[in-house]
Amino acid sequence: NKRKTILDIQKMKADGDKITVLTCYDYPTARIMDSCGIDMILVGDSVGVVVSGHENTLPVTLEEMIYHTRAVQRAEPKALVVTDMPFLSYQIDVREARLNAGRLVKEGGASAVKLEGGEHVAATIRAIVDMDIPVVGHIGLTPQSIHRMGGYRVQGKQEAQAEQLLADARAVEAAGAFAVVLEGIPLKLARRITDELSIPTIGIGAGPHCDGQVLVIHDVLGLCEKYSPKFVKRYADARGLIADAVDRYIADVKGGEFPTEGHSFS
Ligand code: KIV
Ligand code: NA
Repeated sequence: NKRKTILDIQKMKADGDKITVLTCYDYPTARIMDSCGIDMILVGDSVGVVVSGHENTLPVTLEEMIYHTRAVQRAEPKALVVTDMPFLSYQIDVREARLNAGRLVKEGGASAVKLEGGEHVAATIRAIVDMDIPVVGHIGLTPQSIHRMGGYRVQGKQEAQAEQLLADARAVEAAGAFAVVLEGIPLKLARRITDELSIPTIGIGAGPHCDGQVLVIHDVLGLCEKYSPKFVKRYADARGLIADAVDRYIADVKGGEFPTEGHSFS
């Protein structure tokens, strides 16, 4: 059972086999989700929000992305590991973008990188692909653009915006990306983009017609205190599970129920 490559992921679109993707930022979680057979692991810059407690993804650094990618890679996953390029690691110029993409692969062990944007980043995508680092595009609701968007809002509702997103999708594919994340766009637009592109689309808040799906693992597990958006489906109550365990631990220690002699060395 060998490790998945971008060829395996691309073949899944041709075969009509849905591509499953989850975010992951640490070793034990990577071990678990890989044992379940997840196709792709995204070391997302969402780590800054769900793990580090930042307000948005903008403060996340390249060093943090390298650190989390290394932790995930130590799980030796069969899944393809894709790492997000954080804000300011690819916007300045193509040279810096290439260096930073290279560091995520060389120091982090990522097999591919993801960056946000359409036509405006097409030249950057091309430059990274030209150094043999596979790239995943990301268009629609792009969280690093929060200040331009004025919040996390669904994109492409108006016709002109939808046309721009279609142009962005085409530009990302033409630049050589091997897949593209469609985030927070109407399901009809996601379907149109999915039909038109030959590379797989990975949806989040983009409806059921994409070639694959991605969610943030903390949302899937029910680990987040803050509200979770409409497009999330929660599969567990990890907050309840953790709180219950901590409650019982506190009660045991306070009540002298733990540790017992059995937990001790004579
Ligand atoms: O950082 C992230 O988690 C992402 C996915 C939601 C696509 O970019
Ligand atoms: Na991200």
